[in-house]
Amino acid sequence: MTQSSRDRAPAGGTGRATPGRPVSPRDVAAAERLLSAGRLGVEGRLVQASNATLYCSIEHDGGAANCVYKPVAGERPLWDFPDGTLAEREVAAYEVSKTMGWGTVPPTVHRDGPYGPGMVQLWVEPDPDIDLVALSRSDDEAVRRMAVFDAVINNADRKIGHLLPPGDGHVYGCDHGVCFSAEYKLRTVLWQWRGKPLTPEALEALDRVAAGLRGGALGTRLAELLTPDEVEATRRRVELMLKHRIHPYPPEDWPAIPWPPL
Ligand SMILES: Nc1ncnc2c1ncn2[C@@H]1O[C@H](COP(=O)(O)OP(=O)(O)O)[C@@H](O)[C@H]1O
Ligand SMILES: [Mg+2]
Repeated sequence: MTQSSRDRAPAGGTGRATPGRPVSPRDVAAAERLLSAGRLGVEGRLVQASNATLYCSIEHDGGAANCVYKPVAGERPLWDFPDGTLAEREVAAYEVSKTMGWGTVPPTVHRDGPYGPGMVQLWVEPDPDIDLVALSRSDDEAVRRMAVFDAVINNADRKIGHLLPPGDGHVYGCDHGVCFSAEYKLRTVLWQWRGKPLTPEALEALDRVAAGLRGGALGTRLAELLTPDEVEATRRRVELMLKHRIHPYPPEDWPAIPWPPL
């Protein structure tokens, strides 16, 4: 079963590229500049989204791209994530992704927009020929990295549709609003490595996060975006993985697979 890009096409959006020099998600500095300073044009609302998730064009200084804009004003209150905003959690996930160094999350910023402050994330067009169900069950290295990343951020919503493979071997992930709970709530479709040894590159990435949280820039930034308990719980999750050196097992008292999984 393949989820085509048409299935995900935004309601009312044209999906056409904005005129201007395209900015790649790999060019992180240029993408962050564009997302922070660019003029946002709302093109449509994403049909499958549960919150107000808007598909936009963005332009700045000759550069252009499409992006997702999630205004804080459009967030539904969630009993299990009462503090802060989902937009801040999305940005916190991006900060962790940057520290890990795998480019798991497309460039993401927090900024003002036509419906007030929110998160703005570069749009990554998934290759419609890639079977996402098969990818989610595979032993693909990029997906394995995502499983480690999700364990760090305590992702409570890693669905198959949150995998974005542009077709160049890389796999991006989206929708990191319900992450960083202080309780262990990892809920994901990517359990195939549970209990398996972490790879040397995963241990290195975890070391970088641990260092960043021990008085480094990551700790400072996360303290602006999350509660002290959530930052401390992130530090403990990372320490635990570094101690046991395995991919975590599912929580016992929490549904381990998101529903629907797609
Ligand atoms: N940065 C992105 N690039 C490409 N597609 C995206 C991006 N962010 C979201 N999407 C698409 O939009 C859908 C809805 O966005 P999502 O972040 O999951 O919103 P919600 O929080 O409402 O579930 C995703 O399942 C995905 O298909
Ligand atoms: Mg979603």
